Amino acid sequence: MLTRLKYVSRFARPMSPADVQAIVEAAQRHNATIGVTGMLLAFGEVFMQVIEGPTEAVRALFGRIVADPRHRDVILIRSQRVDRAIFAGWSMRLLELDAAARREAGPLLVLIDAASRGGGRDADLLRDIDDMTWRTLGERVVTLRPTG
Ligand SMILES: Cc1cc2nc3c(=O)[nH]c(=O)nc-3n(C[C@H](O)[C@H](O)[C@H](O)COP(=O)(O)O)c2cc1C
Repeated sequence: MLTRLKYVSRFARPMSPADVQAIVEAAQRHNATIGVTGMLLAFGEVFMQVIEGPTEAVRALFGRIVADPRHRDVILIRSQRVDRAIFAGWSMRLLELDAAARREAGPLLVLIDAASRGGGRDADLLRDIDDMTWRTLGERVVTLRPTG
């Protein structure tokens, strides 16, 4: 049985593309050794990440990710048992969005703040964050050029 987990967070401080790339490269190396796959979306000051793999590995990894000082307000959107990995073959795939998506991150940051203040327990708010992140991604999916 696998677990797939999704969260959003915000940058703790400004991050360059190279900073994000460094996170991804380290994640790819480590995830490959623990059987975890997933994707990381970075836009505006927002991260959204999906990690999936053996339940214990995902749980332990998420504990480390939450404690990482490079981001804050880590809001768990969903954690579920799944039969198979949807990001199989991607030890960690980075999807970077364009400038328009960065502008759209503004309202999302407000929601993340609100969710963080409420301890991430407001289910409606979590669903709104989820919807808004996927919408931002979905509208751009045709222009995405994922690498790595
Ligand atoms: C947004 C974000 C996503 C991350 N994703 C992963 C990941 O998928 N896999 C991973 O091993 N580390 C990831 N990290 C890095 C971990 O938080 C942590 O730095 C790394 O696992 C090393 O942990 P350690 O210092 O406890 O050894 C991520 C960090 C951030 C800020």
